[in-house]
Amino acid sequence: MPINTTFLEHPKDRTVVYLPTIDSTSSELARLLKAGAKPGTVVIADTQSAGRGRLGRSWHSGDLGNLYISLAVKVNEPVEKMLPILPLVAGVATARTIRELCGVDAKLKWPNDLLVNDRKLAGILCEMPNYQKRPAVAMVGLGINLSTETFPDELVSIATSLKILGVQRPRQEIAAAWIKGLENTMKVLTPDNIKGVIEKWRSFAQPFGRKVRVGNVEGETVGIADDGCLIVKNSSGEEVSLIGGIVEYQGF
Ligand code: BTN
Repeated sequence: MPINTTFLEHPKDRTVVYLPTIDSTSSELARLLKAGAKPGTVVIADTQSAGRGRLGRSWHSGDLGNLYISLAVKVNEPVEKMLPILPLVAGVATARTIRELCGVDAKLKWPNDLLVNDRKLAGILCEMPNYQKRPAVAMVGLGINLSTETFPDELVSIATSLKILGVQRPRQEIAAAWIKGLENTMKVLTPDNIKGVIEKWRSFAQPFGRKVRVGNVEGETVGIADDGCLIVKNSSGEEVSLIGGIVEYQGF
C-alpha cells in the first residue's frame, strides 16, 4: 500500500517526495539538494533498486512495506564538530522511535546500527554531498525492516524485521516520529550539549565488552568517548579510539 505522505508534511512547507521505486532515496535526495532543495526535504520510496549502506555496502531494498527514507538536515556550526555526532544523533532518534512506538528492546551498535536480539533491524547512512556549502546540509538515510519475512541467505542470520518480531506499526507513523525526533535534536545541538546525546546513546547501547573486529583492529569494545569515537581495547591491552568503520562481532 502506498504511504500516506500527508502525515509527514509538517511543517506545511516541507517537501515530501514519495516514489514507488528509485535507485536510492539518498541518491535522489542528493540530486534534489543539488537542484536547490531545502533542509527538511524528505524522499521516501516503497522499494530501492540500488539501496546504499555504509562504507560502500548495499542495503537490501526489494521488499514492499519496509521503510526507505532520506531526510535533509541542517547542521549547526561548527560543522567539523557537529557532523561527526550526526550518526549518533540519528541512531538515538531511531532507537527512541522504535522503542516508543513498537515496544521493542532495540539497541545501538556503534555508530548507529539498530539491533534486536543481536540482529539488525535498521541501518543509517549519513552523508554530506556538498561539504563546502553553508548553511551546511547533511543527508540521513534510514532503512527499517518492517515487513520482510524471509531474508536472502547472506542476511538470514544477521537481520530481523518488525514482522519477524511480531510487531506491526504504520510506516508513516514511524517515519513522522523519526523525522520529528531527529530534527528537534539537530535544531538545538551545539558543542556544549553534545554530551547529552552521547549519554542517551550509551543508554541505548549494546552491552560493551564484546569481541569485535573493526577494520584491522581486533579487540574488545570498552565504550564510546565523549566525542562519539568507539573505544576498543586491542590484543596488546591498548585502548584505541575509532572514528569510523564497520564493527563486526567475533563469535558469541
Ligand atoms: C547501513 O546499515 O549500512 C546503512 C543502511 C542505510 C539504508 C538506507 S535505506 C534509505 C536510504 N537510501 C539508501 O540508499 N540508503 C539509506
